[in-house]
Amino acid sequence: MRICIVVGTRPEIIKMSPIIRECENRGIDYFMIHTNQHYSYTMDRIFFEELQLPEPKYNLEIGSGTHGVQTGKMLMALEKTYTKEKPSLVLVEGDTNTVLAAALAASKCHIDVGHVEAGLRSFDKTMPEEINRLLTDHLSSNLFAPTEVSKKNLTNEGISEDKIYVVGNTIVDATLYNLKIAKTRSKILDQLNLAENYYFLLTLHRQENVDDKKRLESIITSLEEIESKFDIPLIYPIHPRADKMMKEFGLKSRLEGIPGIKLIEPVGYLDFLVLEKGAKLVLTDSGGVQEEACILNVPCVTLRYSTERPETVSVGKNVVVGVEKDDVLKGVIGILDKELSPENPFGDGKTGQKIVDILV
Ligand code: UD1
Ligand code: UDP
Repeated sequence: MRICIVVGTRPEIIKMSPIIRECENRGIDYFMIHTNQHYSYTMDRIFFEELQLPEPKYNLEIGSGTHGVQTGKMLMALEKTYTKEKPSLVLVEGDTNTVLAAALAASKCHIDVGHVEAGLRSFDKTMPEEINRLLTDHLSSNLFAPTEVSKKNLTNEGISEDKIYVVGNTIVDATLYNLKIAKTRSKILDQLNLAENYYFLLTLHRQENVDDKKRLESIITSLEEIESKFDIPLIYPIHPRADKMMKEFGLKSRLEGIPGIKLIEPVGYLDFLVLEKGAKLVLTDSGGVQEEACILNVPCVTLRYSTERPETVSVGKNVVVGVEKDDVLKGVIGILDKELSPENPFGDGKTGQKIVDILV
């Protein structure tokens, strides 16, 4: 068995890290390809450094582009690399363009595909991620579903049960492992002059939110409302896509004008975990952040109209509120009033080991 692990973006690097570590420890024949879909230091290298990951054998240097250009360039480069290296299995994680390209190129080369985080569904096909997930799942021969909910989504689509393994999500492994390290190393709360449980944390980058001026304006209005009601610092490590669109729509100065908002560059994983753990509440449209907030027992308000992580809502730690100010405010007040249960639906932190056990 020769495994090829493909990564391309921030969440893939983080969520693949437990599997990479497991492959290293067991001396498994594997190599890594990085498409470099993410390439800025704070979206890419910082994670290799902090998570102490080995260098990828190949960096395809694809970078940004429209969906077609980016995916097409990846397909060409990946096919060439697979043909040279002849892996017996390509392993991908999540729902990005990197994931779809890696799975599609592999299946055209008659190489088996393993999909980590299989079976998530928002049931909203206007999201690029939903298309990527659906297609990748149907191209895969090993589907690593985090929960029974995701397994059911797969069987409902006619995917055979014998290809599906319910193993939890590697984000639990990554969160638990790195939080311990983060607590001793991160100085972010002091650097930002923050007191635990006395700030809100925000992330925002989803295409349907930040590329749509009306929705972005509505989110900013909601933030203004929250700020005036709660009078609490709001920390926002801004994703480069959101930063670009805020500037393009002329909205950045309005965002910066919100009293109490602190816009910072995206931070590394250790600082981010500490920021999440210490937050009174998280506002987000990220997939991984919904999961981490749930694992860390921090209330989460999701600024979207659907979620592919319904388990976070079922256990009462996440509310999906959309982007209208009254709904956002109601969601924030509602979840802050609740007692959170410590239940974590995403596994015991041994998902990486389980996946490698199954592959071996
Ligand atoms: C991608 C994924 C999304 C995932 C997110 C994680 C797809 C379709 N989208 O979205 O599912 O949630 O990554 O963060 O695959 N940019 C930089 N530096 C970088 C990367 C991007 O400046 O290192 C800027 C560029 O202006 C680029 C824009 O961000 O055009 C969008 O990047 P892209 O990789 O297309 O999508 P993301 O929004 O990052
Ligand atoms: N994250 C980080 N620094 C930040 C913001 C997020 O390390 O400034 C981490 C976060 O802990 C989570 C992951 O990035 O593990 C989520 O990635 P993102 O929101 O970009 O993508 P998604 O999960 O929505 O695909």
